[in-house]
Amino acid sequence: MNFRSKCNNFKALPLLAIVGSLLISTFAYAQTSQNDVDAIIHGEKLAKLNCATCHQIGLGGESQHKKAPPFRELGQRRSMESIFEMMLFSEAPEHSDMPKFTITPEQADEIVEWISWVQPVAHGKRLAEANCARCHATGMDDDSPFPAAIPFRNISAFYPVQALEEAFAERIETGHPAMPVFEVTIPQLRAIIAYIETLQK
Ligand code: HEC
Ligand code: HEC
Repeated sequence: MNFRSKCNNFKALPLLAIVGSLLISTFAYAQTSQNDVDAIIHGEKLAKLNCATCHQIGLGGESQHKKAPPFRELGQRRSMESIFEMMLFSEAPEHSDMPKFTITPEQADEIVEWISWVQPVAHGKRLAEANCARCHATGMDDDSPFPAAIPFRNISAFYPVQALEEAFAERIETGHPAMPVFEVTIPQLRAIIAYIETLQK
């Protein structure tokens, strides 16, 4: 089957759009290969063109269409594979305003790469490993490389989970003699916390 000839309602990516401003953050790239990074960036562009009129496609903010779930919540609702199939086989959810798409497997794959990228727990894990693991233990049984830095899995012993956002924001903003000041957005912070919550017993 010729996919391209059926690409009538799906906006393919204009080459120039690559130069446009990137929503994606370099803050979490550390362990991601260049090919994956390219696919994620491309997926973000495709999502911006084809999905963002209804769905919030980023880590933070609300969807424009009230009934369209933000992309960062899709992982709680269904598997990435089913999202891929949904796009590829043009299966819009029943009784919805969601348009049917006819896209190539590669495009569907790139959009799924982007959707995976903004799932908060996985995103927070990457952020923590790239930016905090130098000092804090970020797993279930590792030791903090910097002994004075509390292992993230123990943090709820010091802060109630609801207070984590404030404690983190303050700590990240003011730093500490031994802790660097970070530029981190609130959605990134929430992603780190979502990951840390999964570590608490
Ligand atoms: C014109 C608005 C619109 C556009 C454009 C749109 N969607 Fe949706 N989408 C919706 C709405 C509304 C729902 C909720 C449907 C429902 O549950 O009835 C939805 C649901 C979904 C779901 C299922 C969520 C669940 O309940 O499991 C996925 C996955 C999804 N959209 C992905 C996409 C992707 C990927 C794109 C871009 C390629 C896209 N959508 C473009 C409106 C849209
Ligand atoms: C260069 C080392 C270093 C890095 C990198 C680092 N921290 Fe820290 N952090 C520390 C030290 C040391 C402490 C404990 C000092 C203190 O409590 O005053 C600390 C304390 C904290 C606290 C407060 C806990 C408490 O006991 O008050 C939080 C929250 C925190 N770090 C979060 C983070 C996050 C999130 C990151 C990554 C974005 C990060 N840190 C990266 C060294 C670091």
